[in-house]
Amino acid sequence: MENVEDDKTRHRHLRITAPSPWLTRFAHLIAPSGRVLDLAAGGGRNGRHLLGLGHPVTFIDKDTSSLADLSDDKAAEIYEVDLEGGEEVFSPGGVLAGRTFQAIVVINYLHRPLMGALLGALAPGGVLIYETFARGNEAFVRPRNPDHLLKSGELLDWVGSKLQVVAYEHGIIQAADIEGVKQRLCAVRDLGPSTRDDNEPEVHPVSQSV
Ligand SMILES: C[S@@+](CC[C@H](N)C(=O)[O-])C[C@H]1O[C@@H](n2cnc3c(N)ncnc32)[C@H](O)[C@@H]1O
Repeated sequence: MENVEDDKTRHRHLRITAPSPWLTRFAHLIAPSGRVLDLAAGGGRNGRHLLGLGHPVTFIDKDTSSLADLSDDKAAEIYEVDLEGGEEVFSPGGVLAGRTFQAIVVINYLHRPLMGALLGALAPGGVLIYETFARGNEAFVRPRNPDHLLKSGELLDWVGSKLQVVAYEHGIIQAADIEGVKQRLCAVRDLGPSTRDDNEPEVHPVSQSV
């Protein structure tokens, strides 16, 4: 039953080709030409947007058939991997072992066991752009399975004191690709010593409208 739900959700999402407004709002924070990981990329709408901005993009999904047109694009690296099938993609022997990225983009996907490794794969100065469904979305369309719904504050808890949170929201988001209850986070790995006298992290421009 869960797989049927997942397939329906996937096909509904594949019909959306515009990138996430949360991603487009914060894409300017990614280092120019910095490599991006688009995790659970689906049809690649988010990574494709970043390719257009001059970033090399690593796409990963359990089904990459919708990315076939990118196979000749030298800036696009594509891996078909089941992220929940026991293969540790970031561990030795995994397809992304030892790799780091200037940005990691995760939109509409949640697999909690990956979070630690994802944070570890973020390069210094790298940007995490995460948006997915949260508790409360049961009242809307799928997903309704709690395994796929973030708890209150969960993204903030994950990044903890490791990343500088630039923006966060949790609630009913009508302007999103699919209306529902979502949590959105943009955070930067730059909490190390800074050039400021008070050693506070650098500030980032966030004023672009969603
Ligand atoms: C809702 S879609 C979102 C796609 C894309 N991020 C977007 O925003 O358009 C979720 C994606 O997660 C992928 N996915 C689900 N389970 C996965 C798994 N175990 N391993 C890899 N990818 C998975 C699906 O194939 C699907 O493409």
